[in-house]
Amino acid sequence: METGNQAGSPHGETGQTPPAGQAIGQGKDEAAGRPARAATRRPLRLVLPSAPPASGELSAADSLPDPVPSAQMTLVGQLTEWARMRIEERVFRPGMRMPSIRQLAQDKGISRFTVVEAYDRLVALGYLESRRGSGFFVRERGPSIGPGLGAGMPSEGATAPHASRNIDVPWLLRNMFHRAEPRKAPGLGFLPNDWLDGELIGSALRGLARQPGSHFLASGTPEGFLPLRQQLRTRLAELEIGAAPEQIVLTSGITQALDLIARLYVRPGDPVLVGDPAWFVMFARFAAQGAQVIGVPYTAEGPDLEALERIVQAHRPRLLVLNSVLHNPTGTSLSAAKAFQLLRLAEQYDFLVVEDDIYCDLCPPGHPATRLASLDQLKRVIYLGSFSKTLAANLRVGFVAARPELAQSLTDAKLLAGLATPEINERVLYKVLTEGHYRKHVERVRNRLERARDETRHALEKLGLTLFPGQHAGMYLWADTGRDTNAIATAGHEEGYLFAPGSLFSPSQLPSGWMRFNVACGHDPQMLDFLARQLDRL
Ligand SMILES: Cc1ncc(COP(=O)(O)O)c(C=O)c1O
Repeated sequence: METGNQAGSPHGETGQTPPAGQAIGQGKDEAAGRPARAATRRPLRLVLPSAPPASGELSAADSLPDPVPSAQMTLVGQLTEWARMRIEERVFRPGMRMPSIRQLAQDKGISRFTVVEAYDRLVALGYLESRRGSGFFVRERGPSIGPGLGAGMPSEGATAPHASRNIDVPWLLRNMFHRAEPRKAPGLGFLPNDWLDGELIGSALRGLARQPGSHFLASGTPEGFLPLRQQLRTRLAELEIGAAPEQIVLTSGITQALDLIARLYVRPGDPVLVGDPAWFVMFARFAAQGAQVIGVPYTAEGPDLEALERIVQAHRPRLLVLNSVLHNPTGTSLSAAKAFQLLRLAEQYDFLVVEDDIYCDLCPPGHPATRLASLDQLKRVIYLGSFSKTLAANLRVGFVAARPELAQSLTDAKLLAGLATPEINERVLYKVLTEGHYRKHVERVRNRLERARDETRHALEKLGLTLFPGQHAGMYLWADTGRDTNAIATAGHEEGYLFAPGSLFSPSQLPSGWMRFNVACGHDPQMLDFLARQLDRL
């Protein structure tokens, strides 16, 4: 942005937080990277004529209330937030000229860089405009910027769940992204933040920041960062899946991998087989492609193969999508016997199998789990992996491993859909995987999951719920409540709870008595109380 560069604004870190109780104008002037002058050890006071003109200039000489005191915000953040609030409240009205950078910096004894940076942020948020040679002006704005931090900068604390007419897949997805408190969100599809290790990402990012900036400028390659693909090859070899780096394509999570597969292999009307139950987002993705999404009933050891054969004979699908290990939502895994028979059916009826192994690293040692890709060595199987569950959903790095010509077609489809995936994220993941702390981290998470599953299982059984049969591990328990779980989810929604009702996990979307519980959030006493009341009521 114009001003930042003109003023020589450092492109470095401005995110440090002043010590508790320190207000704007005190302490280190972080944008300049040096201590503020002694004269500035007082709260910053921006100034404005007491009765501001409808248009005109804000002066730095008149006193205004103090900016929002915050121990959590940087100096730039406080200045930005302070000005934003005044613009929202129309104390600074559209068309007014903001104090000049020099004047404001001088008056408050802060660095010009700090003011520039705050003004830049306000321009980016749509509150100010920069007029070349004339300075910064409060912008005429449409109604699009509402309360909160404005367009494009959602508040960290935004937790209001989405009201919706229907309990449907978009409803659950939207609500998951609204970060209900974990203790109130047994329906959550991720681990709560305090189960993960943000420092793994933080330290990788700091390491990257020390590398020359030119590394980050050019687009990544369409297949994705080669050292990461080489690293994934090693990890796949540990699962006895042979894949050369050319067979591995990095994607923006498994969600994008499925999107590319849908674009490549599915035409309107094509039958696509999925588990019933299974992860719901893919139903919607394949349906959007015009596919006929057909559910295959599930058993404790994987899909019901007799039913599968009947469905295959009747529909002749091109694809079967399967979450073979720690299946979402049942938490069970495919047995070796089923895996062999399933591949035999795929061979006989000539369909591809997409194996989604997102929960791979959460699988405890000794838990019986067979990967189709290790049996078939990527002939008919397209294998998908991701780090969204164990590292950070925010990273958006997943991958596809497939036969060379399929990997090539998927790369071409990826190019058309969005060129490359962000190499910066891929480099972060590469650092995390190679710096040696990831394994310990997932081991800790697995152990914690074991304990949490025991607690949640006991609590659910105590309420009279019946668990899906089989050997469970990972994040979920799938339980039959004997009631319409849409009704429980709706009532819960009104009280701020997020439940994941069974209907969403079936391509039929029919009302169901089943419910998915995230074991990390499944044993809060108040939530269990609420559930008990619903079970009594329904
Ligand atoms: C079975 C399954 N596959 C894929 C995903 C999404 O993966 P990603 O974040 O890598 O797109 C999820 C997330 O809930 C999932 O449960």
